[in-house]
Amino acid sequence: MKARPITTVKTVVAGIEAAGTGIKLFTLTDPDRWELPPFKPGAHIDLHLPNGLVRTYSLCNEPADNTRYVIAVKREADGRGGSRALHDDIRVGDVIGVSLPRGGLDPGAGISRHVFIAGGIGVTPFLSMARHLARTGEADFTLHLIVREEVPLSAHLTSLMKEGRVVVHRTSRTGRPDLAPLIGAAGPDTMVACCGPEGMTDDFERATAAWPAANVHVERFVAPPPVIDPDAKPFTLFLARSGAEIQVRAGQTMLAALQEGGVDVATSCCGGICGACKVGWIEGKPVHRDRILLPYERERYLMVCVAGSDAERLVLDL
Ligand code: FES
Repeated sequence: MKARPITTVKTVVAGIEAAGTGIKLFTLTDPDRWELPPFKPGAHIDLHLPNGLVRTYSLCNEPADNTRYVIAVKREADGRGGSRALHDDIRVGDVIGVSLPRGGLDPGAGISRHVFIAGGIGVTPFLSMARHLARTGEADFTLHLIVREEVPLSAHLTSLMKEGRVVVHRTSRTGRPDLAPLIGAAGPDTMVACCGPEGMTDDFERATAAWPAANVHVERFVAPPPVIDPDAKPFTLFLARSGAEIQVRAGQTMLAALQEGGVDVATSCCGGICGACKVGWIEGKPVHRDRILLPYERERYLMVCVAGSDAERLVLDL
């Protein structure tokens, strides 16, 4: 019998540190202090919290140090509950399951310049990238951090701010900056990325509309509302590895149909922005509605929480 691949690892909370108003840094380690699965700069992990919630966070530490995973969490009183649970209930010594890290910068992708645009706590995915690029000199970068007044994780950004590689824009003093001049001109060797509130990511998408899709990356705090397709038709999922067939009713998500069929799929945002539910597809005509996969990735993968099908049959690599 084929062994199931490992998809989560057990970690223990080794440290909790205040890192600005309403922000805590959590350090997770292997319970026996072994190295954790390696990660790329800017990678994410899903935390499987003791209360059953699964939430996605960016890794903030340098990938060269994979004895720990460090995440920064801002307590959102009106959020979906993940940050409240971490801030209010999690203590040093608690055990938390985490997914294998995914995503992040691809070394050697021919990029010589990065421009990062971050809104407030949206700085977290860029912290490990900035640290990595500053250490290795692999590529030039500038991180524009747009905040109302207070700089989140300031103690972790001080040296990069002094070097001019992190530029802080305080909207309480200068208003919201125009993103286009910060981003600069498109070029095949330039990668631009943004993580922040919706208004900022919308501005960023407008400013980069003419850029090649592969050179633009956006991370959102909240998933957009689900797309309801009034013309959606039922279709059948064929699972290539197990041989199972699963019917997806009109208007039902593939994820819901898979779960109803007893198929375990990792999820976090359930809105096409985190990448947790990525599944390979082999045959068919998927309708991609996620906000994360690049065009070339869509030729092989889809996000089952939001994707649909334009054909009666879709074969998944499950
Ligand atoms: S669960 Fe986040 S993309 Fe599907």
